[in-house]
Amino acid sequence: MQELFVDDGNFQKALLKFYMNHLRAICLLESLYFLFFFIYAFSTFLWFTVFFIHLLFFSESKMFEMKAFMCRHKECGAYDPLDPTGNITIRWDVRSWVPDGYVAEVSLFNYQQYRHIQPPGWKLGWVWSKKEVIWYVQGGQATEQGDCSKFKEIIPHSCKVNPEIVDLLPGAPYNRQRANCCKGGVLSSLAQDPANAVASFEVSVGRSGTTTKTLELPVNFTLKAPGPGYTCGPATKLDEPTKFTTPDGSRKSQAHMTWTVTCTYSQFLALRGNSPYLGSVMNGQDKNGLASLVQCTTHMCPIRVHWHVKANYKEYWRVKITVTNFNYGMNYSQWNLVAQHPNFNSLTSITSFNYTALNPYGLMNDTALLWGIRHYNDYLLTAGPDGYVQSELLFRKDPSTFTLRAGWAFPRRVYFNGDKCVTPPPDAYPWLPNASTKSTISVIVPLVLWMLANPYF
Ligand SMILES: *[C@@H]1O[C@H](CO)[C@@H](O)[C@H](O)[C@H]1NC(C)=O
Ligand SMILES: *[C@@H]1O[C@H](CO)[C@@H](O)[C@H](O)[C@H]1NC(C)=O
Ligand SMILES: *[C@@H]1O[C@H](CO)[C@@H](O)[C@H](O)[C@H]1NC(C)=O
Ligand SMILES: *[C@@H]1O[C@H](CO)[C@@H](O)[C@H](O)[C@H]1NC(C)=O
Ligand SMILES: *[C@@H]1O[C@H](CO)[C@@H](O)[C@H](O)[C@H]1NC(C)=O
Ligand SMILES: *[C@@H]1O[C@H](CO)[C@@H](O)[C@H](O)[C@H]1NC(C)=O
Repeated sequence: MQELFVDDGNFQKALLKFYMNHLRAICLLESLYFLFFFIYAFSTFLWFTVFFIHLLFFSESKMFEMKAFMCRHKECGAYDPLDPTGNITIRWDVRSWVPDGYVAEVSLFNYQQYRHIQPPGWKLGWVWSKKEVIWYVQGGQATEQGDCSKFKEIIPHSCKVNPEIVDLLPGAPYNRQRANCCKGGVLSSLAQDPANAVASFEVSVGRSGTTTKTLELPVNFTLKAPGPGYTCGPATKLDEPTKFTTPDGSRKSQAHMTWTVTCTYSQFLALRGNSPYLGSVMNGQDKNGLASLVQCTTHMCPIRVHWHVKANYKEYWRVKITVTNFNYGMNYSQWNLVAQHPNFNSLTSITSFNYTALNPYGLMNDTALLWGIRHYNDYLLTAGPDGYVQSELLFRKDPSTFTLRAGWAFPRRVYFNGDKCVTPPPDAYPWLPNASTKSTISVIVPLVLWMLANPYF
């Protein structure tokens, strides 16, 4: 046996000859080997880095600290990818001068597609720059009069440095009403009820400037709904004051001066104020093998959105959505639900809910706004036997994409009343494939879903 391996020099010569003849191919192989090795080493390094960054910075408490830090520096994550320009704009139009001040029409425009303000309604506050007082408010009222002891004959409506105005209730006396007022502070969302997405009141201000030069704009605007959530920017004077057209369109008048304030919403700020708007979507499997059953997460969970894949036909598939109110302290009026799923571009029918497609980028048509039908199910009652609303959606199948695997049939994002719901962890989806846990992809999937599942985003 040993003799077979005795080296008589011929083997080495043959090897050398082989090398010389195939030098190019061997060099190529070698460089390929090193290339792959480096890619492999680099990606391993990258995954470990990502993993440690994840552990270090993205734990829930760290996230909260980071967001709190950003919020202190006025950069709250108010950006909502499904409604990128959503904001509430407050516009002041100075309509006339009075001996010691001016009369302004103040309007609140809700430019948010699916975020509304429900009872007990909005509260608008600001801080006067000088020693202004409010003589009267038409179509609203200041919550506090403040110290008016310096006034003897005519007492102002409010002398506070930082007044807060609220809307009047629907039954307000006729002589205190005006257009777009008296809805109890309700401000509908733009997509759901555009006619009621505006509110306004008239305010007469004294002890202020009486020309466009001497008037100083109020500062530090606040908008409560009625809790926290909105952050308002500074008042900006417009170069072009608002033009008003008479009802018959024959004449245009214009404001003496106009300024606007933009307020944006951040769910993070609202949650810190313990706003009870946090939902959960979770699915298990029922005996038919189709999705069912929902459990609340460990978060406080006042709303449950149940997305049940009910039937799987040859050309269509059917989903049943149930929204349940677990909150004993809240009736949700004009509630709405935003759901993102690729098949919304082929929604065929929907029962019991009103529907509109939201199209923030004009390219994709995968996001739907659903809400209750007026006087039928637009009022989601408190927890109890009637505290739920339901609908069935029929989608036409696109055979090239449709699958019941890996959670495809479930929505990518769900918002209830404009607040992002907690989505289930990846292992809670019923049809996650069993294999593939060893590939690098398994690292990225939990990471992405984890971030989506974080209620602070
Ligand atoms: C507020 O919304 C309006 C209407 O969508 C938009 O034109 C405006 O740019 C928005 N403002 C900000 C500051 O996002
Ligand atoms: C407005 O708010 C800023 C920051 O909170 C504060 O520094 C400033 O004093 C406030 N201005 C008035 C007039 O209250
Ligand atoms: C919700 O509405 C029902 C029926 O209108 C009422 O009885 C109940 O008191 C309301 N609950 C709350 C918390 O407002
Ligand atoms: C989006 O889908 C809805 C209903 O499925 C349809 O009516 C609408 O035309 C679609 N819009 C676009 C831009 O594709
Ligand atoms: C659905 O919404 C549209 C647009 O807001 C409205 O015109 C229509 O009356 C609503 N339908 C129902 C049944 O509420
Ligand atoms: C997936 O794994 C579960 C348990 O881990 C097992 O019961 C099930 O049969 C597996 N499914 C497939 C398709 O392998």
